[in-house]
Amino acid sequence: MEKNKVILAIESSCDETAAAVVRNGREVLSNVISSQIELHTLYGGVVPEIASRKHIEKINQVVEEALKEANMTLQDMDAIAVTYGPGLVGALLVGVAEAKAIAFAAEKPLIGVHHIEGHISANYIENKELEPPFICLVVSGGHTHLVRVADYGVYEILGRTRDDAAGEAFDKVARAIGLGYPGGPKVDKLSKEGDPQAIKFPKAKVADNAYDFSFSGLKSAVLNYINGCQMKGIEINRADIAASFQKAVIDVLVEHAMKAVKDFGNDKLAIAGGVASNSSLRQAMEQACRENGIKFYHPSPIYCTDNAAMIGAAAYYETLKGVEHGWDLNAVPNLKLGER
Ligand code: KG4
Ligand code: ZN
Repeated sequence: MEKNKVILAIESSCDETAAAVVRNGREVLSNVISSQIELHTLYGGVVPEIASRKHIEKINQVVEEALKEANMTLQDMDAIAVTYGPGLVGALLVGVAEAKAIAFAAEKPLIGVHHIEGHISANYIENKELEPPFICLVVSGGHTHLVRVADYGVYEILGRTRDDAAGEAFDKVARAIGLGYPGGPKVDKLSKEGDPQAIKFPKAKVADNAYDFSFSGLKSAVLNYINGCQMKGIEINRADIAASFQKAVIDVLVEHAMKAVKDFGNDKLAIAGGVASNSSLRQAMEQACRENGIKFYHPSPIYCTDNAAMIGAAAYYETLKGVEHGWDLNAVPNLKLGER
């Protein structure tokens, strides 16, 4: 039997400063997240410069708390893992510098992790039986990817967004109807009071790849609808707009995900990323999976949005393959999935 592997993981790619201790990739011993959302809300979105500065302020404290909550010390760790891309370069650098310093001082191996690989691996935490191969729909603020997880750490990107990410569309539409940042959870909540059939928004198809997505047309349609109403002096129903927009996004996500699972002869679908915590998306996906005999996996909301436990989960499977980074590990803001 393999020795237990305990990993201290750090995540700072956007606006959450996070650290976690994870055993054998699936058991979370601590998961500390310091969110900057309130600070960025003042500006209507993430301000990179402020994010970097806040990460510097918080990171030591967050790491200490993660170790304390796990009732462990640095010496108990088998490796130090960190997100090194993609993300905001200044924000990533804070986590990478912290992880390098800790790993060097404590003489532990350093493992750089791809942020999206982390999101996908969040599914391993609460679904102990989930193993590749499976299809994963990654929907976050910066990414919309339909991925075939062929094996641990082996990914084939089937489709991606051609323009806005799903979360970005949620955030922009939320702003247009006056809900503020971050828009996703607010649109999710308001949609429950609206009629998803009230307004027919277009479902964008991308001609040359059935798995690709496009959300900028939908976003423009929502903005045009609001402008049109204002010009005609018609009062807009924000809940109906939120529900109808959300339905248009979800319909496309479900359709593409079902097609990918069927085309690749798979029977497992996982979802990941901040938008994967959307209650209507989870319901719609669950229903579609049930109707098609597909097993559906999703992380709890706390593991959908940015966190370090997911980085610890991904890092474990990297260590099993012998992946280890040198002291020259750098932040790579546009790191591609599958690159090392
Ligand atoms: O994965 P994440 O925390 O950060 C990135 O890696 O981008 O995703 C953040 C995104 C934001 O756009 C946020 O509005 C969206 O996820 N989001 C949601 C919900 N919760 C967060 N979108 C729709 N419904 C939600 N409940
Ligand atoms: Zn993320």
